[in-house]
Amino acid sequence: MPTKSIPLTEDLHAYVLAHGSPPDALARELIDETVALLPADAEMQIAPEQAGLLTFLTRLVNARQAVEVGTFTGLSSLAIARGLPADGRLTCFDISEEYTAVARRYWARAGVEDRIELRIGPAAETLRSLPVEPHLDFAFVDADKPGYPSYWAELVPRMRTGGLIVVDNVLRGGRILAPQTVADRAIAEFNEAVLDDERVELVMLPIADGLTLARRR
Ligand code: DHB
Ligand code: MG
Repeated sequence: MPTKSIPLTEDLHAYVLAHGSPPDALARELIDETVALLPADAEMQIAPEQAGLLTFLTRLVNARQAVEVGTFTGLSSLAIARGLPADGRLTCFDISEEYTAVARRYWARAGVEDRIELRIGPAAETLRSLPVEPHLDFAFVDADKPGYPSYWAELVPRMRTGGLIVVDNVLRGGRILAPQTVADRAIAEFNEAVLDDERVELVMLPIADGLTLARRR
């Protein structure tokens, strides 16, 4: 089957970025601060075009109740919170007080801190504090890769019909075809497992390091 997706050269990628709504000054500052503050870990930050997509998708599903697993310095949570109505709610799960302290500053500056609740701890456990009935409209998973199956197991029953789970790093820098690390293998197994999950329909987008969109049936 010939591919209809064209390979993105650097110039084409720049063109793609230049023709979607750009990050605003605050998001730009957060991106830059994360790189300056945490040069070794900044690659964990989502790509600017993913931030735009998260806001877009949050609005598209009219999300009021959202969850994020893996907050880091906050670019994705900022994007999701901005797509919520003023009385919407984003619950963020992360293990790091240090990284999320940066996120908190930007939530405040963006005026979305009232919509966000941060829970620190291992998400496989803290997610269980959420009601088990289907009440979530939107979820973003971007945490430790071996934890993805347990986050998935906790999230899917809590998604309402039509709710969307977005999963980051499903292509592992292209290594998904020949997994090299523990995290690569974890994602390779995760990708197969979700494919067999009849509760969702899936689209995998080759944006940044790959996003899986899973819509709850
Ligand atoms: C890593 C994690 C991420 O979520 C990401 O987007 C990129 C890299 C990592 O753990 O290396
Ligand atoms: Mg990621």
